[in-house]
Amino acid sequence: MDHACFGYDLVAAKAPRLLVELGSQRGFSFGVFCQSVRSHSQDCTCYAVDTWEGDQHTGSYGEEIYDALAGHVREHYRHYAYLLRMTFDAASPQFSDGSIDLLHIDGLHTYEAVSHDFNTWYPKVAEGGIILFHDIAERQGDFGVWRLWEELEQQHQTFAFKHGHGLGVLRKPGGKPLEQESQLIQLLFADSPEDRQALGELYSIGGQFLKSRRQARKFRQSREAAVKRKLSGKS
Ligand SMILES: C[S@@+](CC[C@H](N)C(=O)[O-])C[C@H]1O[C@@H](n2cnc3c(N)ncnc32)[C@H](O)[C@@H]1O
Repeated sequence: MDHACFGYDLVAAKAPRLLVELGSQRGFSFGVFCQSVRSHSQDCTCYAVDTWEGDQHTGSYGEEIYDALAGHVREHYRHYAYLLRMTFDAASPQFSDGSIDLLHIDGLHTYEAVSHDFNTWYPKVAEGGIILFHDIAERQGDFGVWRLWEELEQQHQTFAFKHGHGLGVLRKPGGKPLEQESQLIQLLFADSPEDRQALGELYSIGGQFLKSRRQARKFRQSREAAVKRKLSGKS
């Protein structure tokens, strides 16, 4: 929810041909990406990779999560979105080096796991491609994406959204020059502290707006249900 507006805009701006998400669970972020591909009539194939069994942070969950997502993808994104039900390591040989334009890493959030996922999948990303890291601001327990992120910031072109649990954006070197990228990509990686701050604030407000809208919808639904119960005399 916190980063949905950015994810949606990033797909519009990057126009990826191949998008891969590692860790999809209920498919919230994957749905945001797929919806943007659809709304912007893009020619992009999207893959969600997950065992749909859960991990030590999410806990294990039942088949209904996978079934619901598979049904949703079939209904709305049938011709270009696919679920790969397997481990990240088993899926990686299915992608050629330099082929992925947008990679979202959102699996297990320990330092060891996320470092392994990054090192395994980095070669698969195209020059100038973008890698997103979820939860870079989360420091509870053994969460360690923040630690990897601190290392990556020293070596790569990056942008960090601090709101919510944090989202890291990394641009792999090469590809077209930054000046030929779309405006959003230029703003993310150009060296203007003012632009970076404004961008961080803009998408933080976007996240808050979506959350408030969802709360308002839930409140309206519970009031409507209460009124119905009252009218039917069930109190
Ligand atoms: C944080 S959740 C993903 C959340 C999702 N992106 C969303 O928007 O709600 C992490 C998921 O990664 C999956 N996962 C973790 N490590 C994995 C691995 N090595 N291989 C496959 N799936 C993995 C878990 O099953 C879990 O569903």
